[in-house]
Amino acid sequence: MPDQVRIFDTTLRDGEQAPGCSMDLSEKLEIAHALERMKVDVIEAGFAIASKGDFESVEAVSKAIKDCTIASLSRARKNDIDAAWNAVKQAKSPLIHTFLATSPTHMRYKLRMSEDEVLQTIADMVSYARNLCPQVEFSAEDATRSDLGFLVKAVDAAIRAGAVVINIPDTVGYTTPNEMSAIIRHLKDNVDNIDTVTLSVHCHNDLGLAVSNSLAAVTQGARQLECTVNGIGERAGNAALEELVMVMHTRPDLYKQQCNIDTTRIAPTSRLVYSILGVNAPINKAVVGQNAFAHEAGIHQHGVMANRATYEIMTPESIGLRQNQMVLGKHSGHHAIEERLNTLGYTLNKEEFNQLYDQFKALCDRKKSITDKDLEALALHRHKQSSMLSNYQLERFTVNSGNCTTSNAVVSVTHKGERTEEVALGDGPIDAAFNAVDKLIPAPEHSLEDYAIQTISEGKDAQGEAIVKIRCGDRVVTGRGLSTDILEASILAYINGMNKL
Ligand code: KIV
Ligand code: ZN
Repeated sequence: MPDQVRIFDTTLRDGEQAPGCSMDLSEKLEIAHALERMKVDVIEAGFAIASKGDFESVEAVSKAIKDCTIASLSRARKNDIDAAWNAVKQAKSPLIHTFLATSPTHMRYKLRMSEDEVLQTIADMVSYARNLCPQVEFSAEDATRSDLGFLVKAVDAAIRAGAVVINIPDTVGYTTPNEMSAIIRHLKDNVDNIDTVTLSVHCHNDLGLAVSNSLAAVTQGARQLECTVNGIGERAGNAALEELVMVMHTRPDLYKQQCNIDTTRIAPTSRLVYSILGVNAPINKAVVGQNAFAHEAGIHQHGVMANRATYEIMTPESIGLRQNQMVLGKHSGHHAIEERLNTLGYTLNKEEFNQLYDQFKALCDRKKSITDKDLEALALHRHKQSSMLSNYQLERFTVNSGNCTTSNAVVSVTHKGERTEEVALGDGPIDAAFNAVDKLIPAPEHSLEDYAIQTISEGKDAQGEAIVKIRCGDRVVTGRGLSTDILEASILAYINGMNKL
């Protein structure tokens, strides 16, 4: 077994499970392609049995991605495992990831199963999965709060039944680095044939220790790390991929086992995920936050100017942050734009590219200089525009507003070739426009939970990106819109969110 650390990305499964992080199929595919470009080893594409949408996205990712193993999660039940298999079986390298809890609390209160029943279920279900798929991973949910003696038996049962990966999750983010090291060491020393499988860890960040716990496991022989881009995930999230990777990259003296990740894809992939979720990185987020490479203090600036190594342990270039962004303009041809998009990590089909190129030209008429950020925004928003063809599409709008008048808006949309128009009043121009959209698009009971607008690049003529969060019962959908006119960006975002509803 090569002494490398495999990166198992679960942004599309554990990450997506977090409130406000749901994504549609096109967004999941976009992220899956970015993960493939970044060279993750495994993409956990979803929990196939959870819903029809989940099944379809796991299946779509399985068909689209060629260079990564594609996993679907399943409980240790036959129908779950069948769904997982049916969703991943078309992947070049499919994997069924099945799990069962092994801690006393989970076994007693959630599963209502005895230890013997749990061991028998692990044996039966791992072997059932193994008869369908050559690659089966078993996770002992809540492993870090399990009795170590029992954990040894559970892992042993899974290996005997044919699991090729054994995952030790810190499901509730409870463990510490020393304890995680001891657990992995204990398994290494006490489970027969442990060296025939890949030992993996999956750490949650409730106490802020997910990355440290994961790396502690590596020092004791874990060779797969489960993580998410930007550390998104349930509660305080999962171990952040970019942090794990950059620790190993920056400290090869401590982590001789390296991973396969192309670190220069970290920044664009992180931006993509934040943008799809409609949130910004915390300004001081390790590795990918806006300030991660900023040197404000005079003494630091002086040091960095003399020699970057004084205060810089990794370079912005190593994570794919380009210092000198190339300026594009109306004379930039097809080829230059295509090449630029490729460098930024986007591969568009012909139809998408032509559409984007038209938008690029239109933007050149409204904005003096077009930066990488503008181009990236157009590429990120292309699904929003194209998916609207089959949904509601903004045709035109007029908004009247002032401090001595009630704001009113006229909005017209097309849907399946038909144009409709509505007028509405509102408490301000945005409210009026959104009220008009509400009259135009039939949708279940919903409310606007959040609305934000931000500029993509600098200058008065900058593009504005609007992000809305619309709540419908338990579900929160994110809508995004892009335009140099912030009212238009807002209406596009709202229509995009309503289309998702
Ligand atoms: O946190 C957890 O225990 C999980 C497992 C299903 C792997 O996500
Ligand atoms: Zn988890």
